[in-house]
Amino acid sequence: MPDSTDTDKLPQGIRLTAIDDAFRENPYAVLEVLREQAPVLEDRELGRFVYTRHDDVKALLHDKTFFTDPRKANPGTFSREIIGKTLGAGDNPSMLLMDEPEHRRLRSLVSAPFKPHAIERWRPHIRDIVEATLDRIEGDEFDLIGQFAGPVPTVVIAEMLGVDPDRHEQFKQWSDLMVQVGFNPFPTEEQARDGEAAGMALDNYFLELIAAQADAPGDDLLGDMLRAEVEGEKLTPPEIIAQCRLLLIAGNVTTTDLIGNGVKALLDHPQQLQKLRKTPELIGNAVEEMLRYDSPVTNSGRIPDRDISVGGCPVAKGASLSTSLAAANRDPAVYPDPDVFDIERKDTHHQSFGGGRHLCLGAHLARIEAQEAILGLLRRYPRLQHSDKGFVYHAIPSFRGMSEFWVQANRS
Ligand code: HEM
Repeated sequence: MPDSTDTDKLPQGIRLTAIDDAFRENPYAVLEVLREQAPVLEDRELGRFVYTRHDDVKALLHDKTFFTDPRKANPGTFSREIIGKTLGAGDNPSMLLMDEPEHRRLRSLVSAPFKPHAIERWRPHIRDIVEATLDRIEGDEFDLIGQFAGPVPTVVIAEMLGVDPDRHEQFKQWSDLMVQVGFNPFPTEEQARDGEAAGMALDNYFLELIAAQADAPGDDLLGDMLRAEVEGEKLTPPEIIAQCRLLLIAGNVTTTDLIGNGVKALLDHPQQLQKLRKTPELIGNAVEEMLRYDSPVTNSGRIPDRDISVGGCPVAKGASLSTSLAAANRDPAVYPDPDVFDIERKDTHHQSFGGGRHLCLGAHLARIEAQEAILGLLRRYPRLQHSDKGFVYHAIPSFRGMSEFWVQANRS
């Protein structure tokens, strides 16, 4: 471990989030320095410890005794003051910030429709949504995020929840506004105001949907949640609404970012793109490599239930531990040539969906959406390239993706 004078020179606080220009442009350069010089960094500005080594990140995520409920973190920590006051607000927090036994109860009540075999049934319909979204794109030059990677996941989740097709546009607007603040601990005043109004509108809409299905739950995700019963217990309407919110916030921006980052990685590496065009069966492995190479979620977190020591660094019970998924996925101790994007990489396991009790519930859905979206896009546009209009990374802490990504469909 370096002495404290060295670590004082390393970036901390906002400079380790997408709000900072340098980090947003290339988080991997910053994280590499951290992993080499301070794999356990005490970030005093934000009150947390940041972990960048693969094995530390994995061990922390999988420790089933740790908490995620921000109320169990010590005062003054990132989990308590920032996550708790944004994401954890309200009487019905989502399962992401719940501990046992409540977490298990809630997760088991909503998990059945997300199991791989249940999600696989949606594949043909997801393919139709991809094709319909591609049909609506006009012109040779377009913004891949606004016209494609953004709409696909929102329409998929809207349909899974049973949202009326003529409300899809409105639903997307509400969900986009809410997502802007959903995981952003530092929203602007305007974002916070718009997000709150959109969240209320969405809650009312979900209440309408729940009331409409009360007597005869439908054949959709909402119906599944209304029917779900574990040990004689059912979900209450406020609990259902909190989970719907989580599905939107956790599922939309992330999947959009996976499709956007994945297509960008392909366009940046023409040989890999060529390989995938020639052998589309590689798509499964290619999406795993996209998740590893440029993870849509850069950080997750845990709160230890006891004093612990990781990487030789003692940490007190109730501290806020920030696990850098992005750094773990590029650790040279685990991945040969970690900065190389290789869709045929043999071992593409990654930390991008977290792990342990809170392992991403939507992982299989996200995978299928990305596989179908990317293959559909490549089939439709045999000469897809970067456009001169370029791309813009968004500035949402803990997320990595673009707000605009211009592509050229048919440049001769
Ligand atoms: C590429 C897309 C996605 C990525 C990278 C992603 C990533 C993550 C991560 C890192 C976590 C926290 C895991 C942990 O701390 O151990 C998480 C949790 C979660 N995700 Fe995802 N996610 C994606 C898509 C989705 C989708 C499509 C849905 C649902 C529609 C979803 C629903 C959830 C839920 C419900 C949780 C909380 C699980 C729990 O606390 O038990 N995610 N996700």
